Amino acid sequence: MDTLSLLRTDIEKLRKKSYAVMKKAVGEKVYYRGLLEFSNICRRDCNYCGIRKSNSNVKRFELSKEEIVNIASWCAGEGYGSLMLQSGERESRDFVSFVEDIVRTTKEKTVSEKLPRGLGISLSCGEQSKETYRTWFNAGAHRYLLRIETTNPELFNKIHPSSVSLQKRKACLVDLKEVGYQVGTGVMIGLPGQSEEDLAEDIEFFKEYDIDMIGMGPYIPHKDTPMRDNRSGSIELSLKMVAAVRIAMKNINIAAATALQAIDPIGREKALAFGANIIMPLVTPAEVRKHYQLYDGRPCINEQTADSKLSLSERIRSMGREIGFNEWGDSRHWRC
Ligand code: 5AD
Repeated sequence: MDTLSLLRTDIEKLRKKSYAVMKKAVGEKVYYRGLLEFSNICRRDCNYCGIRKSNSNVKRFELSKEEIVNIASWCAGEGYGSLMLQSGERESRDFVSFVEDIVRTTKEKTVSEKLPRGLGISLSCGEQSKETYRTWFNAGAHRYLLRIETTNPELFNKIHPSSVSLQKRKACLVDLKEVGYQVGTGVMIGLPGQSEEDLAEDIEFFKEYDIDMIGMGPYIPHKDTPMRDNRSGSIELSLKMVAAVRIAMKNINIAAATALQAIDPIGREKALAFGANIIMPLVTPAEVRKHYQLYDGRPCINEQTADSKLSLSERIRSMGREIGFNEWGDSRHWRC
């Protein structure tokens, strides 16, 4: 079945089919990546994003190396297995060296009997030069997430300032593959003017670029952005996308995106039932979470890290899913 027909299939049928495909291709385990948003300083001015450069209502922050390494050690102690270090996009030499340093130190400090290779480290720090990607890879990061946002060129240009280019974004994904990363990308679902055909094309793009991991969620407006007056993407379409990607790509890793939780209290859990196998519990310190609002209504803002994790694990187990504690949970697609 082609991808567009998949998106048009009855949602219940799609759920059953995607779950069966997931079970066969990657199993039913769910892997955690602690999501640490270590800085909201960003040089970009994307029209949808709450931490865009020109939003002067945002208090900018950067965690110290010590804070980051302490949180990483906490994740390792909890058995998370992997850490996702995410930030706004910056290209200064200082930033490149800072990330290199935190990756290297996190690796060193999290080696234990339970984790003989330390935490698995994923980075999500935007578009960088191939040399920078290599520097960070050599420091010990082995996965990188860079969303394409949409592959429709007109829509891409509508939601980004002219300094951001679809071609450049694609070139970065190629660079990341060549350097040796497990490469993740994804799109926002329900962008204004986005069609089902566009989303089907996005899936074709994921296949063409041999993507190992997907993170995608609904578009949600943020009040301080030029796109504030639009509607959020729906939970139905988001879940259908997750299922369609699972069926089309089989053995990749698919994250149940945090944004799903903003439009549905159990949105992430629902995504697990539609073929997702990765969850990223938020481990950003409570004091700075409020400064990392990519969209309005971001969940977990006032929750303590440990509390949100406890209830999450319980919820996952109650769905009959096991959690792969102390495992990296690499994409099988990448290992093949
Ligand atoms: N709604 C949903 N997702 C968003 N992101 C940024 N802003 C929004 C928004 N308003 C997503 C983008 C980006 C990722 C870090 O967060 O896809 O790549």
